[in-house]
Amino acid sequence: MKKQILERIFNKVDSIPTFPKVAFQALEILKKEDVDFKELERIVKSDPGITANFLRIVNSPAFGLPQKIDSLFKAFMFLGLNQIRFIIVASVAKNYFNKDLIGYGLSTENIWLHSLVCGIIAEEIAFDIKFSPAKIDTIYIASILHDIGKIVLDLYTKLEIKEFQKIANNNPDRDFIQVEWMVLGVDHGLVGAHLLERWEFPKSISFAVRAHHDVDLMLQSDIASIVGLANILANILGIGGGVDSFNYNIPQNLLKELNIKSDKIFKYLKIGLYKSLLIQREFA
Ligand SMILES: [Fe+2]
Ligand SMILES: [Fe+2]
Repeated sequence: MKKQILERIFNKVDSIPTFPKVAFQALEILKKEDVDFKELERIVKSDPGITANFLRIVNSPAFGLPQKIDSLFKAFMFLGLNQIRFIIVASVAKNYFNKDLIGYGLSTENIWLHSLVCGIIAEEIAFDIKFSPAKIDTIYIASILHDIGKIVLDLYTKLEIKEFQKIANNNPDRDFIQVEWMVLGVDHGLVGAHLLERWEFPKSISFAVRAHHDVDLMLQSDIASIVGLANILANILGIGGGVDSFNYNIPQNLLKELNIKSDKIFKYLKIGLYKSLLIQREFA
């Protein structure tokens, strides 16, 4: 039975539309020393969905621009390179988080806000640690897409919702990831990583997605550690965690590994909360 479910889950991975080339091309342009913004505009504009999402996100008060922006080029002129990178990844990701995830108790807005806030918190941590721009790119992508596996698994968590509830009730000490394993034989981190590997993302990104609920695994990579920590903090804030938003603690070995003191944690929580309120005010 579980084997059949697993087969269907991995077949469904193949049916998810691949990550658009436009995004990879745009990120490549942003890596160059002299960024050609006209060329960047031409590339992003070729995808009307991404362009619309970009303008929607850029006009969110979370990005604090002084006026309403109605063109990509204008937006580029107001934003820093990191913000442009972030918004490109976020605007692409928005196309995937376009349905309520009923099995996870998440509305489209919830999962979207959760992904965005994780990206914002992870960015803040990465800046404090003084990561290179290339590494920050990786962090954006991994943190915004960390729960992408939920879009595949939702169908099955929805179908098996009674079984999930029964196991969760009988095992109050288990978190949702453990219940996913018990019912489906897989978790959304692993499915998300598989999806990103199929899309030919670098291993560092798929590994961070794979590890985002597994502290021992995330400790093997600083990128995965930051993505995992950002996810924990967004859940502690109650931002879009859905049914797996319980039982979140900050593992001390994770803070030690990243050399983060507890006063910094308050800063990250404050930033996450503040930005989430700004985003919600705009999109409510
Ligand atoms: Fe997750
Ligand atoms: Fe998450």
